[in-house]
Amino acid sequence: WWPYSSPCVPWLPLSIFYNSSLLIYIHYYYQFPLTSNLFFFIAASTSPLNQVSLFPTPNATERGMWTVNSAGRLGNQMGEYATLYALAKMNGRQAYIPMDMHRQLAPLFRITLPVLSRFRLHDWMSEEYRHIEGKYVWLTGYPCSWTFYHHLRQEILQEFSFHDHVKEEANRYLAGLRGQRRNVTYVGVHVWRGDYVQVMAEHWKGVVADKAYLEKAMGYFRDKYQEPVFVVTSNGMEWCRENIDASRGDVYFSGEGKESSPGRDFALLAHCNHTIMTIGTFGIWAGYLAGGETIYLANYILPDSPFLKILKPAATFLPEWIGIDADLSPLWSGTTG
Ligand SMILES: *[C@@H]1O[C@H](CO)[C@@H](O)[C@H](O)[C@H]1NC(C)=O
Ligand SMILES: *[C@@H]1O[C@H](CO)[C@@H](O)[C@H](O)[C@H]1NC(C)=O
Ligand SMILES: *[C@@H]1O[C@H](CO)[C@@H](O)[C@H](O)[C@H]1NC(C)=O
Repeated sequence: WWPYSSPCVPWLPLSIFYNSSLLIYIHYYYQFPLTSNLFFFIAASTSPLNQVSLFPTPNATERGMWTVNSAGRLGNQMGEYATLYALAKMNGRQAYIPMDMHRQLAPLFRITLPVLSRFRLHDWMSEEYRHIEGKYVWLTGYPCSWTFYHHLRQEILQEFSFHDHVKEEANRYLAGLRGQRRNVTYVGVHVWRGDYVQVMAEHWKGVVADKAYLEKAMGYFRDKYQEPVFVVTSNGMEWCRENIDASRGDVYFSGEGKESSPGRDFALLAHCNHTIMTIGTFGIWAGYLAGGETIYLANYILPDSPFLKILKPAATFLPEWIGIDADLSPLWSGTTG
């Protein structure tokens, strides 16, 4: 969702690439340390989602395909090409090269390995995506919209079910916040800060969540639930401590107010009953996994923001989620944060 810099939470290394009849799981090279530069596309062609096997079938022509990363300049590219060529052959797999490699090597050499077709996605489901051409396709972009996968919600939630130890740690932490409360409702709060405070203003003509937004969102849950407990996670904890009123005793800053690991924070949010997100895919997924009520910051960019070319608000937030409008006035006065 954030084309500006790394958008992916690093502990979700699995990407799902598909075309209409094919689903490919990509295992990045670091999961296969013996083959440092290679990463594997293990394709289970013609399998629908629920029948995909991660292991190649015995039929050699159906054993899958391999590719290699396209890193470095000419010499590196030649090395990667030759290595892929040899190792794929040795292992009886079809090799495909990335578009970037083709672009560097094909003008010079009569190379023969086929190119992985690359298909750039915008972040909402379109009719044309039901029929993407090409047998082996590399989907690119920053897709995240529920419009791609919400009809498979149960399967997606299964894919993102936590390891037991992660689940246990999150539940232990939440149980520890309960105190004397007898009927507690956990509300995970994710406050995106960091670089985006500036980037939103300067690049995307938008704002991030402010103090008033968080007060309103928390007020919603305080009115509705008897004993809410707010669990705040953020990459800007100092700002949170200064701007979130904790005087009622129902606000807890995860990791004693220091930033903790994204994975731990995410697990906490997902184990809460409800979600207050601000902006960003991290909060969207926390809300999606928590599965309760989700409040999000709405209309936080100007109508002429370049952001609207790559995402549509209606495809970003589930229809039943509750939007609270952002205060765009800092964009007029030129102050942010
Ligand atoms: C192997 O797969 C190819 C392509 O799908 C198919 O044409 C061929 O009949 C298969 N061979 C066997 C022995 O199953
Ligand atoms: C627990 O709280 C919810 C709302 O927060 C309320 O609807 C429910 O009746 C409460 N249950 C008990 C046993 O007090
Ligand atoms: C709220 O979340 C806690 C912690 O995950 C869970 O144990 C509890 O069952 C949830 N309550 C409801 C009403 O879903």
